[in-house]
Amino acid sequence: MATTDRERAAAIARLYDLDLAEEPGDVELYLALAQRTGGPILELAVGSGRIAVPLAAAGHRVVGVDLDPAMLDRAGARAAREGVRLELIEGDLIAAASLAPVAAAGPYNLAIIALNSILLVPTADGQRAALAAMAGLLVPGGLAVVDTWLATPADLSALDGRLSLEWLRTDPETGREVTKYLSAWHDPVRRLVTLTQIFEEGDPGGPTVRWTRQYPMRQVTVDELVSYATEAGLEIERLGGDYDLRPLDAASDRLVLVARKPG
Ligand SMILES: C[S@@+](CC[C@H](N)C(=O)[O-])C[C@H]1O[C@@H](n2cnc3c(N)ncnc32)[C@H](O)[C@@H]1O
Repeated sequence: MATTDRERAAAIARLYDLDLAEEPGDVELYLALAQRTGGPILELAVGSGRIAVPLAAAGHRVVGVDLDPAMLDRAGARAAREGVRLELIEGDLIAAASLAPVAAAGPYNLAIIALNSILLVPTADGQRAALAAMAGLLVPGGLAVVDTWLATPADLSALDGRLSLEWLRTDPETGREVTKYLSAWHDPVRRLVTLTQIFEEGDPGGPTVRWTRQYPMRQVTVDELVSYATEAGLEIERLGGDYDLRPLDAASDRLVLVARKPG
């Protein structure tokens, strides 16, 4: 029987969580920033609630926006399991300020775009609009945080489309074995890295089901992200090189930008 789009989206969302079974290590940073700012908190590209749920469990009001209803379903289920409330809104983060329930729950003391999600906005104009949306939704004195991978030229030139085995895991939700393969290539003209993720799952010795997902990540430089923030009227508070907010330096493969709305 053919798989419906909805089943496919649910499987991909479940496998997103399996992929992140090894936590990136960013939740403590957001908890510390939230303790400083208080809520309400807006997470754009909230995904399956990996960050939003701990923030809500710490007592903050959290609003999450995402394009993908399957990811929002998982965020809602995660919140229910933890006994906390999230306000989850389906929509494009670029247009967050014009989503009525997002505006109604604001303005926000903290706005977050975590874990490379800014790169999923595939154009420079869209990325600029994302920072503008954050700035527009913050209270004076509120913080915007954007966390992104910084690829070096050597990283990018190594992305030649070759397929590599990423991991083999057992999904605790289904008990099935899952193998993840990854292929990436870089288009230097459009500054796009196209990622193809292939997940194969099944019982040992049994038939496997394959789920494929492909998406572009528009690479952003430090200067670009800083200019998006300052054009949006934000003041740069910190350019962190990792989740402990150590200063960004030439060896950093990640930028955690913390910017403040004046006032
Ligand atoms: C890498 S996941 C991050 C999820 C979550 N913030 C985390 O750290 O686990 C990226 C999420 O961004 C969402 N997304 C991508 N483009 C978006 C857009 N333009 N507007 C809203 N959500 C978007 C995807 O659906 C996905 O859930």
